[in-house]
Amino acid sequence: MSFLYDDKSKLVNKVFNHVYENYDLMNDIMSLGSHRIWKKNLISWIAPKRYDKIIDVASGTGDIAKLCSAETNNESKITCVEPNSKMLSIGKNKLSHLNNLTWVLSNAESLPFKKNTFDFYVISFGIRNVSNINKSLKEAHRVLKPGGRFFCLEFSKVENEILNKIYKQYSKIIPSIGKIIVGNRMPYKYLIESIDKFYDQRDLLKKIEKNGFSHVEYRNLTNGVAAIHTGWKI
Ligand SMILES: C[S@@+](CC[C@H](N)C(=O)[O-])C[C@H]1O[C@@H](n2cnc3c(N)ncnc32)[C@H](O)[C@@H]1O
Repeated sequence: MSFLYDDKSKLVNKVFNHVYENYDLMNDIMSLGSHRIWKKNLISWIAPKRYDKIIDVASGTGDIAKLCSAETNNESKITCVEPNSKMLSIGKNKLSHLNNLTWVLSNAESLPFKKNTFDFYVISFGIRNVSNINKSLKEAHRVLKPGGRFFCLEFSKVENEILNKIYKQYSKIIPSIGKIIVGNRMPYKYLIESIDKFYDQRDLLKKIEKNGFSHVEYRNLTNGVAAIHTGWKI
């Protein structure tokens, strides 16, 4: 799976420029609310503590930052990194009451931070959108402290045949739902295609290992509709 860096980042930026106003609503509709449960699962596996330094890459409208912050009594330091200025603005405005959050307009391939900075690196429904996954994973490894931990929540491959058939049928109607809610099919056609083309659980695990992480493992959510991968910087 290789993309011309500029082409993919332009396409992805265009996708999120179409959806930013209704992004949260569409997430609830499309996932039938499941994304909330998956994100809670992610936070309970991360188990962030007070004073931890957390980087939330592809932060979008800030769901993960908000949950991590709540889990730590708003006493962790969370850096939200997001390349789409409209998505970033929605998150920043929505969470302006949280003064432990910092918002940075940048991308996963090139993080403007020193090495060994963060205790946790989190990327939720973001890694599928990056143009260069190897570069992004190497950056994740670089900015984590030794002993720091990487977490990735992403759509994956359904492991039950019957559920997979139902899921594939459901996926076909998502662009039409997108047309009704955001007035455009394109972003949701991209969503379905990008999920389809993305790595399965085991291939993503190998990628994470190849880019320097140790003790990499994953957990399926809803039978593999999504999965959480994690690994350590030793
Ligand atoms: C599906 S949203 C996920 C938002 C949020 N993390 C969540 O779980 O709801 C994906 C986000 O990835 C961002 N993104 C796209 N390309 C990126 C890149 N190269 N580096 C970092 N983020 C990227 C998009 O702008 C978008 O806001």
